Amino acid sequence: MADTDKTATLTLGNESWELPVHSPTEGPDVVDIGKLYARAGVFTYDPGFTSTAACESAITYIDGDEGILLHRGYPIGQLAEKSHYLEVCYLLLYGDLPSAEQLEDFENRVTMHTMIHEQMHNFTRGFRRDAHPMAIMVGMVGAMSAFYHDSTDISDPWQREVASIRLIAKMPTIAAMAYKYSIGQPFVYPSNALDYASNFLKMCFSVPAEEYHVDPILARAMDRIFTLHADHEQNASTSTVRLASSSGANPFACIAAGIACLWGPAHGGANQACLEMLREIGSVDRIPEFIARAKDKNDPFRLMGFGHRVYKNFDPRATVMKQSADEVLELLGVENNPTLQVAKELEKQALADPYFAEKKLFPNVDFYSGIILEAMGFPTSMFTPIFALSRTVGWVAQWKEQLSDPALKIGRPRQLYTGPSMRDYVEVENR
Ligand code: CMC
Repeated sequence: MADTDKTATLTLGNESWELPVHSPTEGPDVVDIGKLYARAGVFTYDPGFTSTAACESAITYIDGDEGILLHRGYPIGQLAEKSHYLEVCYLLLYGDLPSAEQLEDFENRVTMHTMIHEQMHNFTRGFRRDAHPMAIMVGMVGAMSAFYHDSTDISDPWQREVASIRLIAKMPTIAAMAYKYSIGQPFVYPSNALDYASNFLKMCFSVPAEEYHVDPILARAMDRIFTLHADHEQNASTSTVRLASSSGANPFACIAAGIACLWGPAHGGANQACLEMLREIGSVDRIPEFIARAKDKNDPFRLMGFGHRVYKNFDPRATVMKQSADEVLELLGVENNPTLQVAKELEKQALADPYFAEKKLFPNVDFYSGIILEAMGFPTSMFTPIFALSRTVGWVAQWKEQLSDPALKIGRPRQLYTGPSMRDYVEVENR
């Protein structure tokens, strides 16, 4: 972190305090209020952290006004086009693109950890068949701390590394098991001869009774979906992982916390909610009715897959996702998919509407991802688990970075208290 020669001055009544200003490699300067309470006796107030940098990080950078997303400096569009998910995982975890040897070694290490403890199969069978796969994933990943004791000591760099690889390697196995369980089919063991995306497709869609051939086009689309979701700076679930980890919690508990946060419809749950909304709209002639509802202050309805806390121009992931949707649906011969037609027309009409333009609301990554996933054969309930498995590397990279930060402290926000002032207890008979 570079200090600048600038300072910010806070004046309260007759007193003033000089606050240091730090300069990032990209993005706006940051006013350091870390010692403000000790010096001035006041807190700052920022619900939703809209103006607060909670940590220093060198992993991902977003410029929301320009629609830029960089991982370790590389634009997401280039990574989606030229790289692949496991290479992006390496980049996020270790800071640079790997050499051919480093990549091979990393892929081998991930591949050797794809199986889960056999006892976890019994654990999974304890859930109700109609459990949401996200509920199963929260439980299974949290339970990894009960199955992998040898990688829960966060003070040991080797255990941290093993936990990281285990999480990235086992998440597809866990997500696929959650799916298989919900449809009453047997769990499929991972195939280490396959690449990461192909292995996941096979674990989801193959059955022991039949040969299964992974379609390379679908594998490529799957890999791209993983890549586009790999990390996204200090979003709600990543901040949840960091907050959980700040107390010294074990890595599996921290990532389970991230999965729980991701589930919400304002975050990772939006892809499921978006596809359900597109299906509910059903045909292009009903679009104006839904746009009117989204604009109505008295109606809680929002256009799912639209809007973003940081992107106020366009979401660069959505651009790639839209292109992928067109490609995948054409290759599958379903380019006239009615949901895609509704999505495209909805995007067009919303973008032409002054309400969405004024509020800078654009399609986000979740607007088109559900259409691709549905075309690939996934039920809507699997959309958010697929987001969770893709984002695991981002959570893990941010968790590792946080643990090696000498400035690490337990996260402990303060509050603007608005409850009653101190009062005396009144005996029940006198109330
Ligand atoms: N449809 C209609 N109006 C909207 C929408 C929407 N999708 N999103 C925001 N607005 C309006 C909102 O009503 C508010 O209006 P006003 O200023 O008149 O009160 C204004 O735009 C600002 O909204 P906000 O809720 O204060 O903005 P935020 O930054 O807190 O919320 C968001 C960002 C993503 C939660 C929100 O845009 C939203 O709920 N979108 C739909 C859910 C969604 O697609 N989420 C996925 C996000 S991308 C993937 C991920 O991060 O997981």
